[in-house]
Amino acid sequence: MSETTVGVVGAGAMGAGIAHVVAAAGARAVLTDVRPGAAEAARSGIGDALGRLVAKGRLASDAAESTLARIEVAATLGDLPPCAVVVEAIREDLGDKQDLFAALEATQPRDALLATNTSSLDITAIAAATHTPDRVVGLHFFNPAPVMRLVEVVHGRQTSQDTLERALAYVRAWGKTPVTCTSTPGFIVNRVARPYYGEAFRVLEEGLASAPEIDAALRGAGFPMGPFELTDLIGQDVNLAVGTSVWEQTGRDPRYTPVRLQQDLVAHGHLGRKSGQGIYAYAADGSRVEEPGSEALAPGPSDPSTPAASLTHDVVARTIAMLVNEAVDLVHRGEASEADVDVAMQLGTRYPRGPVEWGRELGFDVVARQLAELDEAYPGGRYRPSPGLG
Ligand SMILES: NC(=O)c1ccc[n+]([C@@H]2O[C@H](COP(=O)([O-])OP(=O)(O)OC[C@H]3O[C@@H](n4cnc5c(N)ncnc54)[C@H](O)[C@@H]3O)[C@@H](O)[C@H]2O)c1
Repeated sequence: MSETTVGVVGAGAMGAGIAHVVAAAGARAVLTDVRPGAAEAARSGIGDALGRLVAKGRLASDAAESTLARIEVAATLGDLPPCAVVVEAIREDLGDKQDLFAALEATQPRDALLATNTSSLDITAIAAATHTPDRVVGLHFFNPAPVMRLVEVVHGRQTSQDTLERALAYVRAWGKTPVTCTSTPGFIVNRVARPYYGEAFRVLEEGLASAPEIDAALRGAGFPMGPFELTDLIGQDVNLAVGTSVWEQTGRDPRYTPVRLQQDLVAHGHLGRKSGQGIYAYAADGSRVEEPGSEALAPGPSDPSTPAASLTHDVVARTIAMLVNEAVDLVHRGEASEADVDVAMQLGTRYPRGPVEWGRELGFDVVARQLAELDEAYPGGRYRPSPGLG
């Protein structure tokens, strides 16, 4: 029955979510973790989550029982049965992942796909620890995996076409929507989304608008959350780490230069909701205190001499122009298709439109002109238009 057996290594937030997804779709999921008791705890957490769905009337109790019955625990990696695919979701460390992939190659059948849920590491570098890099692929699930429909299927330089096609078929069989991309820094979602945060932080840092104004303006443009309420939710440290990793991996491309204001927030321990203070302040029950966060770190209201409407318009216009630029550039470099970029941004971040389609509607020439103006106002390469804009 190796065809429907999925090994999941690492039973943290993502591994548990992935096991849940796979088992709910009818496959057998076998979870393992180096931390004693972690896989059992994850299995029981999945049982609790299924129980809550039953209580809310969203899942039949026999479906919950059969899903849980399809989740097993293996004491060690060597105890994993032969699998059709193993999904790795251990901590984000290249050396640890390479050791694990070498061990998986030694213990799993030759035809097992070896997949990594890495958010930021190069698939080719992970695969380099094996003699069979053709079967190594990225399966980047989003958190929480049972809820988020998108999975980025990431191919390293040596990932075979057969592996890619099998990976796409598994993702579809698990009820998810796959998109494909090369192992480019940040893949699709974490790359294209960078300016959503970067522009907001720059505008705030320059004192052109306040955090609530910027959040309201972007929500007004159809984004489900403003950039500051969103980064406070994600964790300023987590968001900064992703941005810094993309910046480093692109040879410090000025498009992704970290913003001092966000670095200062993190250095002060103002990590967002989880620390009670980020851009905004939060009460003990997690609700937002109405005043913007620490005055030392967050500038006050915008300059009264400038009309608020045009300022907020600027934040929205430059954010959208930069999102379009990132999306078009990714496609221009051959990392992903237009259709996949648009699907990824709508499912992975709930943007109101796919950025490529959005750019085409605004006019790539209009976007290129906006960027050229910004490039003139802020020289240094951050706003250079993609050759893909024409
Ligand atoms: N949390 C997210 O939002 C998110 C989203 C997408 C992808 N990811 C990626 O998924 C992976 C896991 O993230 P997470 O948030 O679930 O982490 P986590 O810290 O919650 O869980 C990691 C688990 O892996 C176990 N582990 C560590 N080394 C191991 C090894 N050698 N063998 C077996 N188990 C081992 C740990 O004991 C822990 O239980 C990371 O690569 C991360 O970048 C995370």
